Amino acid sequence: MSTQIAEVTREATLNLVPLCSSADLERGWGEALLLEGRQLALFRTEEDAFYATSHHCPNSGAKVIARGILGDTVVDGSNVSTVACPLHKEVYRLDNGECLNTDSLPLPVQRLVEIEGQLWMEQSK
Ligand code: FES
Repeated sequence: MSTQIAEVTREATLNLVPLCSSADLERGWGEALLLEGRQLALFRTEEDAFYATSHHCPNSGAKVIARGILGDTVVDGSNVSTVACPLHKEVYRLDNGECLNTDSLPLPVQRLVEIEGQLWMEQSK
């Protein structure tokens, strides 16, 4: 199967949207992305895990999350990756968006898939 056909098949059957090469993202850093009018934040952890969230902080609506501070913490015995908002330092889990230090609304997250060095985002139908 050609790469182009494989990409069309992935988009049609899994509702995946191509984002960028995983190599485009720097370890331990985030990047902002505008996709179909939505502002997203993409992250690559030091452990090469990839996450996509809204770029809007749920605490204030400020478009700052891609400039957040990556970290990790232990929740229920498991290590989870986090991002701290650069403004007021609310800490959100990158896997499910839960705010860990206040009762703030969760940070919307999107599921990412890495296939052959390409990052794809799952779109809700
Ligand atoms: S703007 Fe994000 S925590 Fe206040």
